[in-house]
Amino acid sequence: MRQPKEKITVRTLSKMKKSGLPISAITAYDAPTALLVDEAGVDIILVGDSLGMVVAGADNTLSVNMDQMIYHCQMVSGVKPGALLLGDMPFGSYQIDIPSGVANAIRMVKEGHVEGVKLEGGQERLDVITAIIDAGIPVMGHIGLMPQSVHKTGGFRLQGKSREHAVRIIEDAMALEKAGVFALLLESIPMELAAFITNKVKVPTIGIGAGSHCDGQILVFHDMIGFTRSYLPKFVRAYANIHELIHDAMVKYIADIQSRQFPGIQESHSVGETMESWLKEYENSQID
Ligand code: KIV
Repeated sequence: MRQPKEKITVRTLSKMKKSGLPISAITAYDAPTALLVDEAGVDIILVGDSLGMVVAGADNTLSVNMDQMIYHCQMVSGVKPGALLLGDMPFGSYQIDIPSGVANAIRMVKEGHVEGVKLEGGQERLDVITAIIDAGIPVMGHIGLMPQSVHKTGGFRLQGKSREHAVRIIEDAMALEKAGVFALLLESIPMELAAFITNKVKVPTIGIGAGSHCDGQILVFHDMIGFTRSYLPKFVRAYANIHELIHDAMVKYIADIQSRQFPGIQESHSVGETMESWLKEYENSQID
């Protein structure tokens, strides 16, 4: 775990891979969450477009736009985390052409104050990735399951199961490394394939549903603390049950209001007898 106040950069992550130190990453979408995860000592905070699902309640990430991403990146960057802060490029922000992809990545840095961006795609995205890196912005690649292609893949499912597809993912990883990405996110691929890629590339691999041999791991914050009622994929470990905690708190709150147990004297303001005598005087003044 990193020391409090230590600032994590892309260079730190590269050194961590070389020294065999596991990298921890998590998503955050607002200031209080960012503070919590940063205080815990996480190495990477990703403002993921998963916010479209876990915060906005959509079925997928496709409707998230640049303005929404920047708004959430600002909330997180405002706490000035020691963790490396990455922003996810939303669907449609880098697929149209290279100039608009670079312009949107620059917006993420200038307005959202992130220190790097993540975007989905392998060899088909090399041009835009290279141009963003040439603009001075660190890029984390994202291959394997790419949620922005959910309609193409026909759902959120394990990728790289066939020999042909596994080879394609390996070649994507090598091409992205050659293009200059500082790290690779590997989502929902067999652990053997993730281990192979992790050995093959010099940049750190960060896995989600990709087994334990990656250089680091990432989970979606709401999933791992149980702040959701949605179906959770097999790779999520439940570290807390916040849904149950909040549900129980709400039921108690409502019951306390209904039984007039809340607010109590300790939650109320009083200036005592002074106020009572003012009120009495006022009431008397109203009687003619
Ligand atoms: O948007 C997101 O949260 C992601 C996950 C795979 C970490 O990309």
